[in-house]
Amino acid sequence: MHAITIPEPGGPEALVWNEVPDPVPGEGEVLVEVVASAVNRADILQRQGFYDPPPGASPYPGLECSGRIIDLGPGVSGWAVGDEVCALLAGGGYAEKVVVPAGQLLPVPHGVDLKQAAALPEVVCTVWSNVFMVSHLRPGETLLVHGGSSGIGTMAIQLAKAVGAKVAVTAGSPEKLDRCAELGADVLVNYREQDFVAEVRKATDGVGADVVLDNMGAKYLDRNLQALAVNGRLAIIGMQGGTKGELNIGMLLNKRAAVSATSLRARPLGEKAAIVAAVREHVWPLLASGHVRPIVDREVPMHEAATAHRLVEESGHVGKVLLVKP
Ligand SMILES: NC(=O)c1ccc[n+]([C@@H]2O[C@H](COP(=O)([O-])OP(=O)(O)OC[C@H]3O[C@@H](n4cnc5c(N)ncnc54)[C@H](OP(=O)(O)O)[C@@H]3O)[C@@H](O)[C@H]2O)c1
Repeated sequence: MHAITIPEPGGPEALVWNEVPDPVPGEGEVLVEVVASAVNRADILQRQGFYDPPPGASPYPGLECSGRIIDLGPGVSGWAVGDEVCALLAGGGYAEKVVVPAGQLLPVPHGVDLKQAAALPEVVCTVWSNVFMVSHLRPGETLLVHGGSSGIGTMAIQLAKAVGAKVAVTAGSPEKLDRCAELGADVLVNYREQDFVAEVRKATDGVGADVVLDNMGAKYLDRNLQALAVNGRLAIIGMQGGTKGELNIGMLLNKRAAVSATSLRARPLGEKAAIVAAVREHVWPLLASGHVRPIVDREVPMHEAATAHRLVEESGHVGKVLLVKP
């Protein structure tokens, strides 16, 4: 088969479409013929040599895919050759075939195109596990999403609105904020021109956000805490603004607030399977009913992954950039 390989870490040109050996499904795994994958910010870090795949994972990038099952390893039940699926991966999605632990498979949601389903697993699992399973966002509460027009952000807006929450977003341009508003965001903050703490307080009668979904890490730690309501929950999922910050524990105590930080890729198989099962139970019906949909900026042929990486690095996209099989 062919896959995007990274012979040497570097810029987008480090991504090379090469012939590689076919993967073989082991116990509890299936082999999927990939129709599409999607770019995640983590893929860029992997390409640059800053984010190695976890032990045992495919060396090729790609944290999600859609396609058809073409082989079953021993001990797999509930899935059959020919099933159309999408899948959460620890790597290897930028390829013609990929091995997937059965617990990380999802059926293509009713009403969603097979290709577009590749835009779902990573963002849905990340948002659902952080905003709902860890931070327990409830109807009527306010969620602040940083990077509202990102792959993660566009899904977070939709899921939070679907459960009846109020959503505030940050983004870097009026055009991106317009796209967030189309998805249902109620409070729009241009992070280049406005102070999100002041804007969120203003929009909540001084109360603040009940949950913050944060991609910035250190740079926003203090201001995120300021933006939180009493009993607020800050869920950190990204480190785009650095890894080491100062936490005001006095403010944390006074607000009886909580800070969590999780990474999906390296979690044990059982934890990923539990997240995937929860997503299938709670989010798949919202996709089937049309309340939530994959937000795809564009499709790029998989062997031109470098073009897709350039676009995402320049933040020239809204939602997800798909890599489709040539
Ligand atoms: N922990 C996990 O398991 C996990 C899983 C998936 C993703 N993530 C993280 O989630 C984040 C989003 O991922 P993605 O793949 O959806 O990325 P993406 O589409 O490339 O989006 C990155 C976003 O960062 C925003 N941004 C840049 N500077 C900002 C600032 N100062 N304030 C607020 N937003 C800012 C950009 O907004 P503009 O374009 O408007 O400038 C853009 O929307 C990344 O940090 C990624 O690493 C974590």
